[in-house]
Formats: sequence, structure tokens, C-alpha cells
Amino acid sequence: MEIRAAVVDSFDRPPRYRPFDLPAPTDEDHALVDVLAVGLHPRVRTGASGRHYTSTGRLPMVPGVDGVGRRADGTAVYFVADDDLVGPMATRTVIDTRRSIPLPEGTDPVRIAAAMNPAMSSWVALRRRVPLRPGQSVLVLGATGNAGRMAVQVAGRLGAGRVVGAGRDPERLAALPGLGADATVALTADADATAAALAEAAAEVDVVLDYLWGEPAAAAMSALLRARSDRSRTLDWVQIGSVAGPSLDLPSVLLRSADLRLRGNGQGAVSTRAYLAELPSLIEEIDHGRLAVPARTAPLADVETVWTAPEAPGVRTVLLP
Ligand SMILES: NC(=O)c1ccc[n+]([C@@H]2O[C@H](COP(=O)([O-])OP(=O)(O)OC[C@H]3O[C@@H](n4cnc5c(N)ncnc54)[C@H](OP(=O)(O)O)[C@@H]3O)[C@@H](O)[C@H]2O)c1
Repeated sequence: MEIRAAVVDSFDRPPRYRPFDLPAPTDEDHALVDVLAVGLHPRVRTGASGRHYTSTGRLPMVPGVDGVGRRADGTAVYFVADDDLVGPMATRTVIDTRRSIPLPEGTDPVRIAAAMNPAMSSWVALRRRVPLRPGQSVLVLGATGNAGRMAVQVAGRLGAGRVVGAGRDPERLAALPGLGADATVALTADADATAAALAEAAAEVDVVLDYLWGEPAAAAMSALLRARSDRSRTLDWVQIGSVAGPSLDLPSVLLRSADLRLRGNGQGAVSTRAYLAELPSLIEEIDHGRLAVPARTAPLADVETVWTAPEAPGVRTVLLP
């Protein structure tokens, strides 16, 4: 079947909107959907550049990690893309129905497409990786991006007693108390001032959700652990994103001198089954308007220009076929 899709023909060029031959579903668990909305998440860009750790290297490819579609019987579904099938950035695609959830009548496809990927990172981290106990406190490191802002809200929704958001952009940092942050910390070029502010606001937190990694995460680890009143009290550090660097220099003393528990949250660290189990409750949170979802839309046909245009900071782009 001929469809139109955002097609990556080369990993060093943006996808091009062009005709594409969609193979018919062959498996009884596969179903054809009309695509309604697809989020342009950072993970989508990494996948389309061939650099994600799950990349197969096969070309041409249709990018996307998730989306909202309508099945032949009229049901709207949220679906998680399957690497072995054509991706969601297309007018129509084939989904694995086992990786899809029917959406309640009247659900806004744009909100779901914009929010599920950034919100899932903290939702799954705090429910599966380090199940949050009521009253525990959380630091979101890198709280000014889409996923970080969601993490601030999700931590509150899941019963955190205190939520601290740390990030660079002063304007988006100032908006975090309105989303439930009890305190904010500015990550600035002044390393000593940043360390002191982190120590004051967050030395006693139970969990860190880290979207940064790299040098700022290493500095934050050191600042928090040095200032912690009881270093043998566990600090769960959940590595989720790496916008500040793919690796960090971790002094061994930090692991010996405190109970620092380091883990990650992402595809592989959590099984597909566990992710799927979390979808309905998160969809309900988003659908009921309990999480703020800044989104803007653009036609899928404009994918090539949207791809290279500057992003509106803190706002997720959703492509509409
Ligand atoms: N593992 C998972 O399940 C999962 C799920 C979703 C996202 N992620 C990852 O999480 C990260 C964030 O995703 P997102 O959707 O929030 O992206 P996003 O909306 O593009 O936000 C990224 C934010 O990072 C901030 N930033 C960049 N470099 C920084 C630095 N050196 N120090 C402090 N802040 C910095 C930027 O804000 P300023 O420029 O204002 O500082 C930007 O707002 C990405 O690495 C993504 O791949 C992981």
C-alpha cells in the first residue's frame, strides 16, 4: 500500500516527506492504523541519526518511537513503535496491537503524543526502578526540558513530600514552583555557587532523577553527598537522559563514602512488559489534565523544515499527518 511518510534515506540528512510502500500486516497481532499525531522527541532524532543504542542501521527508515492512531474500527490508540515495523511518522502505519492501548473517547491525540515519552521517563522510574514511598523527596536534575518539567509534576503526583528542580534556563526554572516544585536551584557557570545551592536545597533528598549526566551530574553528586547529614542513608540516583554528556568521571570515593545507588531508566533497563503495564495509568493522568503539556503542532508534510528549525524550548513538537 502506498502511503506518505517522513523517510530517512541517509543518517546524515533530515527525513524527507515522500511516498513509501507500506507492507501489509502479516501477523495476527499487527494492525493498520491511520496516524493522528506523532511526537518529535529527542529520542526520535537520535534514532533517525542511527546513533541510538537500539539502532539497527537499516535504511530507509520511518522514524518515531510512539504515536496516536485510529484503527479500522474507529478506536483511537496510543502505540509504542516496534523497531521491526515501519515507524509512526507516516499517514498510515502498522502497529503491534500488544504495544498499544485504546484511548478514552474524546482524548486529545496531541496531548498524548506530546506527553507520553517525556512523562514516561519519570513515571516508570518512580514506579518501577525506585518505587517512591509517600513523603520521600526528589531532586530533578535538568528540570527545564520537557521530561524534567514532567518529572517535577510526576513526583508530586506520586506522593513526593518535597520536590526540587535544578536547571539552567532562569525563565523555565521560575515556572517550576507553579508545577509543584518546592525549591529550585540554578545551574550556573559558577561551580562553587551551584554546588552550595544544590547542597542547601537537596542534600537530604532520597531520589535524584538525572536528565543531564556529564560534568554537571558529577558535580551535583559530589555536592549532595558531601553535604548529606547521614551519608549512610541511601541516595538513589536514576540516570535517565544525557543532554550534558554521554559519560562522567565518577570518583570512587563517592561510592565508598556514602550509600549511593546508581541505576538507569530506559529501554532495556525496564522490560517492554513493564512499560506497557504503566501506560494506562499515565494516559489517565495526561487525559485528565493533571500534567501540564506544552505542545505545538506542525504538518508531517513539513517534516524536513521542522526537523532542522530551532525547537521552542520546553515545548514538544507534534507532527500531524
Ligand atoms: N530514558 C528514558 O526513558 C527517557 C525518556 C524521555 C527522555 N529521555 C532523555 O531525557 C533527556 C531530556 O529529554 P527532553 O524530552 O526533556 O528533551 P528537551 O525537551 O529537549 O529538554 C532538554 C533540556 O535540557 C536542557 N539542557 C541541555 N543541556 C544542558 C546542560 N548542559 N545543563 C543543564 N540543562 C541542559 C535544556 O534546557 P536549557 O537549555 O534551558 O538549560 C533543554 O530544555 C534527553 O536526553 C532524552 O533522550 C529519556
